[in-house]
Amino acid sequence: MELMKIGILGSGTMGNGIAQVMASAGYKVILRDLSNEVLAQAEHNIKTNLGRIYKKKNKDISGIADVVSKITFTTDLIELREVDVVIEAIVENMDVKKGVFAELDNLCVDKTIFATNTSGLSVTELGAATRRSDRVVGMHFFNPVPVMKLVEIIRGADTSDETYEVISQLTESIGKEGITILDAPLFVVNRILVPMLSEAIFVLGEGTASAEDIDKGMMLGANHPIGPLALADLIGLDTLMLVQETLLQETGDSKYRIPPLLKKLVRAGHLGRKSGKGFYDY
Ligand code: NAI
Repeated sequence: MELMKIGILGSGTMGNGIAQVMASAGYKVILRDLSNEVLAQAEHNIKTNLGRIYKKKNKDISGIADVVSKITFTTDLIELREVDVVIEAIVENMDVKKGVFAELDNLCVDKTIFATNTSGLSVTELGAATRRSDRVVGMHFFNPVPVMKLVEIIRGADTSDETYEVISQLTESIGKEGITILDAPLFVVNRILVPMLSEAIFVLGEGTASAEDIDKGMMLGANHPIGPLALADLIGLDTLMLVQETLLQETGDSKYRIPPLLKKLVRAGHLGRKSGKGFYDY
């Protein structure tokens, strides 16, 4: 595992967290996004987060520069050509992801494994967009990546045992715990979690209680560490809506309809923490 080089596509909410944990575990990372501004923001976020962690653990902060130096920030896709594993963390849209996977398939050497951090799109369908469906797998991290222990490892229809093993070991080597899942809409955790978040948004939209009281209710009454609306803001309301659309489309079940209040906030550009405003102000 030590020698593996990891490529990461997308340096947003998830990509920069994944880059941080990979570099902290000693891997060389190539982090690619579309603009230098976004990459500069990612670098800033990584340094700030590491600063917080080092302070909490009473570690010498001079180690931070060493971790950050393991990450190459780039807009150039070609830099991913020879990595061992690409972890894709771009927008939750099947057509966009397929396009990127097809492009990577032409670019990358044969050995490269493509792992997607999708919240619930079909890993099998993404694999079929390439000529290496045996080397396509889901590696689904949770937000915030440096804190959350779980990685869902999703086997598409063609994912080989060898690919699964590499991702399993990679998960372990960064101090995370994996669970094994066969490809299905939203996998396991989001399949259960997203309808709960959606229900909280309906409750707010219907005027039953304030955002603060809904969150307080679930924290004190159900022992959740964070309320559902604060969690929705952390996930990003645009991402949450796209994930829920997958569930609605794949199942055709109207019980998964999108809460009007969620649509309204997304249309207004109030996307939660990342835009400074969602159910709460940041
Ligand atoms: P985000 O919107 O914060 O970041 C996405 C980034 O990808 C942006 O910086 C964008 O510029 C970049 N991007 C778009 N196209 C690109 C391309 N072709 N090459 C490189 N970069 C590109 O999104 P977020 O929340 O980080 O989500 C990314 C993926 O992770 C989605 O599939 C999402 O469903 C999944 N995910 C999100 C979680 C969350 O809590 N936000 C949790 C677990 C998974």
